Amino acid sequence: MSIHIAQQTGVITLHTARTSYQMWADEQGVLHHLYYGPSVGNADLRDTEFRSDCGFSPNPGELHLQRDYSLDTLCQEYTGCGVGDFRVSCLNVQNPDGSIAADLRFAGAEVLPGKYALPGLPAAFDNGGECETLRVTLRDDVTGLTVTLLYGVYEQADVITRAALLQNGGSGVIRLRKAASACLDLPFGEWELLHFHGRHCMERQPERAPLPHGVQVIGSGRGASSHHHNPFVILAEPHATETAGECLGAMLVYSGSFRIEMEVSQLHSTRLVAGLGDGTFCWTLAPGETFAAPEVLFSYSSDGLGELSRQYQRFLRDNIIRSTWKARPRPILINNWEATYMNFDGETIYRIARQARELGVELMVLDDGWFGRRDNDTSGLGDWQVNEKKLGCTLAELIERIRGLGMDFGLWVEPEMVCPGTALYAAHPDWALSIPGRTPAMGRSQLVLDMGRPEVVDYLYETLSALLRENHISYVKWDMNRNMTDVFSRALPADRQGEAAHRYMLGVYALLERLTAEFPDILWEGCSGGGGRFDAGMLHYFPQIWCSDDTDAIQRLKIQYGTSFGYPISAVGSHVSAAPNHQTGRTAPLNTRAVVAMAGTFGYELDLQLLSEAEKQDIRRQIAVCKQVQPLVLQGRYDRLTDAMTDTYFTAWQLTAPDAAAALVSVVVVDPKPNPWPIHLRCRGLAPDGLYKNSLTGHVTTGSALMAAGLTLPMQTGDYPATQIWLERVD
Ligand code: GLA
Repeated sequence: MSIHIAQQTGVITLHTARTSYQMWADEQGVLHHLYYGPSVGNADLRDTEFRSDCGFSPNPGELHLQRDYSLDTLCQEYTGCGVGDFRVSCLNVQNPDGSIAADLRFAGAEVLPGKYALPGLPAAFDNGGECETLRVTLRDDVTGLTVTLLYGVYEQADVITRAALLQNGGSGVIRLRKAASACLDLPFGEWELLHFHGRHCMERQPERAPLPHGVQVIGSGRGASSHHHNPFVILAEPHATETAGECLGAMLVYSGSFRIEMEVSQLHSTRLVAGLGDGTFCWTLAPGETFAAPEVLFSYSSDGLGELSRQYQRFLRDNIIRSTWKARPRPILINNWEATYMNFDGETIYRIARQARELGVELMVLDDGWFGRRDNDTSGLGDWQVNEKKLGCTLAELIERIRGLGMDFGLWVEPEMVCPGTALYAAHPDWALSIPGRTPAMGRSQLVLDMGRPEVVDYLYETLSALLRENHISYVKWDMNRNMTDVFSRALPADRQGEAAHRYMLGVYALLERLTAEFPDILWEGCSGGGGRFDAGMLHYFPQIWCSDDTDAIQRLKIQYGTSFGYPISAVGSHVSAAPNHQTGRTAPLNTRAVVAMAGTFGYELDLQLLSEAEKQDIRRQIAVCKQVQPLVLQGRYDRLTDAMTDTYFTAWQLTAPDAAAALVSVVVVDPKPNPWPIHLRCRGLAPDGLYKNSLTGHVTTGSALMAAGLTLPMQTGDYPATQIWLERVD
């Protein structure tokens, strides 16, 4: 049993293989958080709680003589608001009488087999008996607001999922202005925050800094999880490294605007509150209605950041990604975007495909520009009719020609958008988010469709499912190329506009649910101007996401490094593109570009016809190597061997087979040096007694030697040289 409720005391302990999590409802019904950390069995931890008469921290009305009891200083599982806790709260609730208050008290707990589901939202699933659910009910007796806290305990994965259901059990309308998914109060310890910020073409740059007193917020108000801040944070002990020290993560399974707030309190405790929305969220909850707050994935490691990352990577692979492709080798693809942009016809695409096929590529992806009036990015989105004039044939004809080469065919779409000037916009101007009387802000000359309207979702479902039914399409790239402004739904009354952004996400999820269920064998790749929606919510539908519009291999080292802290390598869309690189102008060797793209789904995004014969030979070799690497990418263990942000000489990482029978160490020199000091690496995760053969030197040695004494590379010279070293077990 991974959930234990002590009969006498009511103390609830959640157990995973290596961690414990404890809570307890006191005589007042306040649900205390007691512990989250390394396993402690069922030890009762109530005596670790600190109570003091803390000035200006008020006491509940019924306990006003008990000066050492304050909601402002207690660690809690989920907070109310307005009744005595001044720290960041889980809720902001406006009651029928106008008061802004919620006082939540324990009303019961039950343990259920399996994993709870969340209506309309992506969430982790159970692969058969590996998860147990705890449901805790909290109630505000004055208003009847009920909060059901859901905990999914994945024992072997060392992951605890959380979510909250808010139900209006009263007789008047309640307005939720904030409805967090979870709160985690850490009573003790110094914590550093590791978060992943960025911008278009430079996503998920790790930044680590001590949490100061006061509130620190990581979030997005862009209507997408965003390039700028990822909905994933790690709190780490100051001395935690890749291989040692305590750290814990909080990852939202949500793709829209979000907030993760962290507050170090007056008594040095640390509170983390995670949930959807920015300051504009406001949801009207009529009597009897329930609101579901998205899921958060918590994981804890005592063995450093590398182990924490692997816990998340495994969990997302096994319990978030549903695609039938999740463990299947992905086809080596070629995408025409950086080869042609929107200047192509059917013949151009066919020739690119033919050359690629000759070199071993398996899937041709036709990117933006095949539909409507779409010769540049100022028009066309919304009119998903094939531009046969531009292609010079029907889509079906082009696909059959390409399939005739022995290749599969994939297509780019950007369904959530509309360009003014299209037939769709002319027919339904009210389907775009925009505020009456204002000219909406444009992003890439496009507007955002109001996905909260069921008729928009139905229309897109009909349009896209017909396209997929009528054509032999085995891959879809689903893009989203601007953030939301003018968030106003013409379908909602004035007092419900604060719901539009979340209704948008619910609509997107509903559409993806229908399409991925109907076309389960299609390989779906998510995208938002690269990695602007790279999150666990999207991974529920898409087994891979285009990681960044920056295809520069050297920049990608940092982007992919940051991404690896929370996300599986098998989900990282990564391609070899042309040199000089189109985003940075840098020229990196073809081999280096391939080595970096192999830490991902792998493909090409350039016109291979323009390469020399020697380069074409190299592509053949790369594809053969990639086939060997794929099983490690899909199922293996991933280790960051260097810090890509601070190690300025070289970046290295290791992929290891689940049974440690083989490993691949990849090294890219980012700043070659004269009279260089050695490139020396210590491997990780090998079988200590196993004998491994080094593909570079032929030398055979033990796993323990490779992990302790390490590997030394020969001198590396030239522009950004890269090396792959296979370590094959030979005993
Ligand atoms: C986004 C994607 C690119 C490409 C273009 C097409 O920027 O990230 O890969 O598909 O859109 O417009």
